[in-house]
This record gives sequence, structure tokens and C-alpha cells, in this order.
Amino acid sequence: MSLEIEIGRRKTFGIVSHPDAGKTTLTEKLLLFGGAIQEAGAVKSNKIKKGATSDFMEIERQRGISVATSVLAFEYEGIKINILDTPGHKDFAEDTFRTLTAVDSVIVVIDVAKGVEEQTEKLVEVCRMRNIPMIVFINKLDREGKDAFELLDEIEQKLHLKVTPLSFPIGMGYDFKGIYNIWEKNVNLFSGDNRKNIEETIEVEDIASQELDDLIGDEAAETLREELELVYEVYPDFDREAYLNGTLQPVFFGSALNNFGVRELLDCFISIAPKPRPKESDTRLVQPDEKAFSGFVFKIHANMDPKHRDRLAFIKIVSGTFERNTPYLHVRNGKKMKFSSPNAFFAEKKQVVDISYPGDIVGLHDTGNFKIGDTLTEGEQMQYKGIPSFSPEHFKYINNADPMKSKQLEKGIDQLMDEGVAQLFRLELNGRKVIGTVGALQFEVIQYRLEHEYGAKCSYENLNVHKACWVDPADPKSEEFTDFKRVKSKFLAKDKQGQLVFFADSAFTLQMTQSKYPNVKLHFISEFESVHA
Ligand code: G4P
Repeated sequence: MSLEIEIGRRKTFGIVSHPDAGKTTLTEKLLLFGGAIQEAGAVKSNKIKKGATSDFMEIERQRGISVATSVLAFEYEGIKINILDTPGHKDFAEDTFRTLTAVDSVIVVIDVAKGVEEQTEKLVEVCRMRNIPMIVFINKLDREGKDAFELLDEIEQKLHLKVTPLSFPIGMGYDFKGIYNIWEKNVNLFSGDNRKNIEETIEVEDIASQELDDLIGDEAAETLREELELVYEVYPDFDREAYLNGTLQPVFFGSALNNFGVRELLDCFISIAPKPRPKESDTRLVQPDEKAFSGFVFKIHANMDPKHRDRLAFIKIVSGTFERNTPYLHVRNGKKMKFSSPNAFFAEKKQVVDISYPGDIVGLHDTGNFKIGDTLTEGEQMQYKGIPSFSPEHFKYINNADPMKSKQLEKGIDQLMDEGVAQLFRLELNGRKVIGTVGALQFEVIQYRLEHEYGAKCSYENLNVHKACWVDPADPKSEEFTDFKRVKSKFLAKDKQGQLVFFADSAFTLQMTQSKYPNVKLHFISEFESVHA
């Protein structure tokens, strides 16, 4: 098949949500539709169970599962769908941010009773910054929850989205009767029987007709008519271009657990979601249908077996075809590399593939050559942009606890940072190493893995940092910047890329510093459009 046809039939997306909103359940139902799995319960939840005996053991368990669920691929109606897993636990938020650099669109799952939750806000913000097309799925309609209009308002206000419902619920919770599908113009009746896979779908051409009353009762029919009138009045018509450029988000209602509204979501998804999109590199915009292969590493997974230190690097293919046993250029280190057993993913299975296309993810065995953000090409000198680091939430000094093993410690820290487990900073003043993490649990994980995988021991020392801010001076030679560096010298560090970072010990310090040095901009993210450029 030609490259163009292969590109045209691929959709690579991620599901984002706050834990417990129903991401795993929805993923599973989507796989069931694709026939990729046969029964419910096959997709293991990668979330960390609350109140588990040891959070640490849970992290290890999660690491095991997340290899299996990193990419779940299936075919539906001739379309190859790749779902990229986004860890739900907040300690893994950084992993999720990075995965979002490899998706072409996103489905946001929101719990009808809880509404917009904290984690969803953060993730949607990242998607908005990147103009990623988003579809919203409001889940758990079989339960009592918030009023649909109230929820739509909340989504617009808290997530700063412009929404347009493509389906609308008929009742809710105990009174939930079904859904009017605005996209397909039909009514889906809810049976309440969760063993049933496909609910009853009845075409209703004209909602003013008596037919609707007969189906759902006079009262519900009247309410639905009024509500739909309001929907048509208040919300814009669906416009695919606006959805694709990230300025309009269609909304669906349903119940993943009861497999209700999922087929409607999937059918709409395959008809509107984007095929693999072009991607910006440091030199130019790369189109998927270019003949030459290129791709980038967005995730690295360490082997669970400490005796084998090989890892799996996940590459998103941006352009051309990736072929087995073909030499490609690892741009950062200038080496040509060949891969004899690239893995592709199908449902939960891995298999060696000869050829992969844009939108696909391949897993490459790696002995420490890759780090997140690395680019592979057929020879072109370019680097893909857009894998930023965010300010960690927790910071500690890391010390060597076994002087005989300092080499092992260096190597271990280096590799764990390449994997993206945490961020490493070096203080300018004395070169001390500081580890920054998103969740407090990662410190334990690092300590454990250094010991078990590298034979090194570390200890930590507390350090009071509120935020790490990447420093962006208007003029690096200005007196203002020289003064900033002198006065703040104790709080300055370099990140792994050598970028200058300021450790603010409180929100107050941050505010004071910013007002004292207005031309030295401080960013919470490592990649920014310089405001001074
Ligand atoms: P997550 O991956 O987003 O964290 O959520 P997950 O799918 O694991 O769902 C969280 C809980 O919500 C699960 O219940 C799941 O069964 C339930 N759930 C998902 N979709 C629906 C829905 O449409 N309606 C209702 N009523 N519940 C839904 P749990 O008790 O935490 O787990 P389990 O014991 O059922 O696995």
C-alpha cells in the first residue's frame, strides 16, 4: 500500500482524565469494538490503588503494567487506531505531558458527578498550548451527576475550551433514558443491562414528531426538545476545521462501563480525528508524506529485570517509513544505528515488524543510547522540538552514600534522568546535585532502582524550593542580568541541557524577584517562546 494511503488510515491519540473518571474502562470498550480483545477486564488498570499496602510496590506493579499498555493498537472500519497510554497517577504527570507530544489528538474523559478535576485542567492546558484537537466524553451518565448545561459551562470556564455538544443526555442517573445523538440524528435508548454490548439505536429524523414521545414518554420528549433548542441556540455548529486547529471541542455523553455512547464516540472519532500531523523540527516543518523517514523518542521504558539493563525506547514515526535492519542517523550523537527487532504493538501484544508508517509507534531495544527527545532520521541534521520539562514539585540534594560506587551512581542517575524519571540540576555555586520530581514517591523509586539496577547507594537531603524557573534574560550582557546572577547566585543551577534555572523558595520570592528584575523572565517550563525575541 502506498505511503499516502497508510497515513490516511491512521489515527494516533491519547485519553486524558483525572484518575477514576473512566479512562481504563473507555480504552477497554474501544478495544472491544475493534475486536482486539474478547472480554471486559482484559486491560489492566495502570492506576495506583489508593490505600495499597505499599505505594512503592504499587509503583513497581504499575511499571510492569505500563509496558503492556504503553501503546494499544487496533483496527476499526479499516482505520488503524493507536491509543497511547497516559498514566493517571499524578506522580507520573511528566510522563503524560511527554506522551502528549506524540499524539495527534486527544479524548478528554470527565466524570459527570465530579465535573472538571485538577489533573484534567493541567493536561488540557498542555493540549491547548499545542492546539491538539480534543473531543470531550462525559462519562458515568448512569449515575446522578451535574446538570448537562452546568457541566458544559464548567468545561468552558475551567478548561478554557469552546464546546459544542454532539450528543445530549435524556435524563440522568435513575431517570437516565438514553442519548440523543446530534451528530447522527438518532436516539440511543439505554437498557441498563451492562452485559449487553450494543444498545438499541432508533433513527429519529424529526424530534418534533410523536415518535419521540412514544419512545421516551411525553415529559422526557418535551424536556429534550427544549434542551436541544437551547443547545442549537447557544452552541456553535460543529466545524471540523475549528476542531482540527484546536478552537472547538465536540462533546459526547455516555457511560463507558455500560458501553453506552462509546460506539457513537468511536464512529465520530474515526470520521473527524486527524491523521498523523506535520511536526516542527529545529530547522523546518516536516510533513508525514515525505519519503525520508524521521521520528523521535517520547518515552523510555526500563527493563523490569535488573539483570538486563536494556530498555525499550518508544519512537513516534513522523515521516516516511521505518524499516527493520536499515541504518538511521541518531542525530544527537551522530551515529548510524540499525535495529534488528523493532517492536510494533497490537492490543496488548508486541511483535517484530518489518515496516512502520507515520503515526505508528515502534519500540526499540536500547542499551543506553537514547534519551527522551532524541531524533532519528535518514541522515538529515534536524532535531524535533517540543519535549519540554516542567518545573518539578519536590526537590532534594542527592548524595553518594557509598564512595566506592561513585561511578555506578553517576551512570545510574544519568540513565534514570534520560528515562525521564526525574530531573537533575547542578547548583552553580558548588556543583551539588539536586533531583527534582513531580511526585514525592519518585525519590524512593530512584533510591531503590539505583541500588538494584546499578549497585549504587544514595541519600537525600532536604532543600526548600517552591519552583524551578527557567531563566530568560532580555539581554544576557545587561547590568540587570549581571546583578540578578550576583544577588541570586546561591539559587541558580543548570539543568541537564545546560539551561540556567532559578530556584525560588516561595511564591513570594518569585513575585519579588520578577518585579525587581522585570527584564529577566522566569518560566515554569523549559521550552518557551522568548518573550524578548
Ligand atoms: P481511570 O482509568 O480513569 O482511573 O478509571 P477506571 O476506568 O478504572 O474507572 C474508575 C471506576 O469508575 C471503576 O470502578 C469503573 O468501573 C467505574 N466506571 C467507569 N465508567 C463508568 C460508568 O460509565 N458508570 C459507572 N457507574 N461507573 C463507571 P471501581 O469500582 O473503582 O473499579 P472496578 O472495581 O470496577 O474495576
